[in-house]
Amino acid sequence: MSSHPASPAVPFTGVVAVDGPSGSGKSTVSRRLATALGARYLDTGAMYRALTWAVLEAGVDPQDGKGVAAVLATAVIDLTTDPLAPGVSVDGQAVDAEIRGPEVTAAVSAVSAVPAVRAALVAQQREIIGDGGNTGAGGIVVEGRDIGSVVAPDAVLKVFLTASAEARAERRSAEVPGADVAATHADLIRRDTLDSTRKASPLLQAEDAVVLDSTALGIDEVVSRLLGLLAAGVRP
Ligand code: DC
Repeated sequence: MSSHPASPAVPFTGVVAVDGPSGSGKSTVSRRLATALGARYLDTGAMYRALTWAVLEAGVDPQDGKGVAAVLATAVIDLTTDPLAPGVSVDGQAVDAEIRGPEVTAAVSAVSAVPAVRAALVAQQREIIGDGGNTGAGGIVVEGRDIGSVVAPDAVLKVFLTASAEARAERRSAEVPGADVAATHADLIRRDTLDSTRKASPLLQAEDAVVLDSTALGIDEVVSRLLGLLAAGVRP
């Protein structure tokens, strides 16, 4: 396969959708891909996590849909879309470290299953994506669970990234000092089940998605293959 330039002469326009379960390598792959394309990057999971942080800060039970909707109505979630410096804030306060903590991770599936939450955050995601840079803001790589199926069904490339539960648990626990692999594995399975079985836009493999297993391939190879598909003009 040919090597790919770090910044393409012709900037990428359009949307690349990267979906998959926790720990499949979505964030690393998406950020590297966006950087290589000179595109923006949107981490939709960070938005659900930021809202969850606000819910917990407000002392609201994450299972209380009405309480969650009340927090949603007032919380202002902001993101930067630079793949080299992604950041998220709630009401002007940076919460990048806080949203990765165990409390938020334990509660985020419940918050993200509330239909009002999905409606509001999907609308905000579409606003950020715009028209994928065909006019103005530039192409974008978007990662999440429902990007190819719900948020951006017209994406030029849809990727469904998977990896074995064991590999995903090992990667996730390596990111958190002192984390226990077995407990992380159990939590991943719990979240996969919740995220895949909820009624409102569950984790879904879009019919026209390219499926890549990062257990077998490794992150560099995944990025390289995706750049190859885009360079060849391959459409799903
Ligand atoms: O990708 P992540 O682990 O940071 O996502 C956190 C949670 O947010 C995940 O458990 C499911 C939810 N999520 C979602 O429901 N829809 C998305 N598009 C992205 C994330």
